[in-house]
Amino acid sequence: MYNGDQTIKDFGEQWRRYRDNNGFYGSMELFYDMIHPFLKSGDIKNCKVAEIGSGTGRIVNMLLEAGARHVVALEPSDAFEVLCRNILEPGKVTCLKVTGDQLPAYGDLDYVFSIGVLHHIPDPRPVVDAAFRALRPGGHFFLWLYGREGNRLYLALLKPLRVLTKRLPHFILTSLVEVTYWPLVLYIKLCHILPLPLKGYMLSVLEKMSPEKRKLIIYDQLNPSYAKYYTRQEAEKLLLDGKFENARLHHRHGYSWTVIGTKPSV
Ligand SMILES: C[S@@+](CC[C@H](N)C(=O)[O-])C[C@H]1O[C@@H](n2cnc3c(N)ncnc32)[C@H](O)[C@@H]1O
Repeated sequence: MYNGDQTIKDFGEQWRRYRDNNGFYGSMELFYDMIHPFLKSGDIKNCKVAEIGSGTGRIVNMLLEAGARHVVALEPSDAFEVLCRNILEPGKVTCLKVTGDQLPAYGDLDYVFSIGVLHHIPDPRPVVDAAFRALRPGGHFFLWLYGREGNRLYLALLKPLRVLTKRLPHFILTSLVEVTYWPLVLYIKLCHILPLPLKGYMLSVLEKMSPEKRKLIIYDQLNPSYAKYYTRQEAEKLLLDGKFENARLHHRHGYSWTVIGTKPSV
């Protein structure tokens, strides 16, 4: 079975080309949008947290800005070097170049976050188990995953395209991104007047991004070797199979799943 190594390589290359977290893409406005409706800014203050799959460190910096006392940041790819450079308060961060299943079993973390990562891991179960071990009793595992619901038309177009694009070298893929960019801009404009699929995401997230970051988002959809789009039931099962309780799900902007579960107290 495909083990995810190529996907990690793909991201190593991606993040060494798209290195910065500027603008809305790395903003607290986007962070609050991501953690809504389960968390508020004050919930993270003074907490010890981890993020699995930190990429270029935008979520790590958001967690620091939200007041985290300490952040453990895991990034297994060659993006690790970019992550270390981008961190705003290095004294409060432990960076580990390991996969999520190797998150140390601290047993005292208040939160483990994983934003946009588990859907790129073919067998996420060992990662969920590691998050469970790292949390304190009563601590929370917070996930954001691609959703299948709300994306059916998009996926009907994307899936056949990805068969080709995930194999393309960077310079061809970036040319394809340039070609796709202007239809996307037009689509965002049409969303203002028509009830088109993904309208919520287009207007609340993508429209606020700079052209450069919109191109990164397109690249990010086409590049990784492995990407799974979760149904609500699959997303919930991830946490329940991992012994988490009180799993709650939110269909963020009608296209993705925000999921939170709690490690039992006893
Ligand atoms: C789409 S990026 C998300 C980065 C960051 N969380 C963010 O939102 O900006 C997915 C990241 O997960 C990492 N990743 C892939 N497989 C992983 C694994 N098995 N364990 C931990 N991280 C992994 C990739 O290297 C990549 O940096």
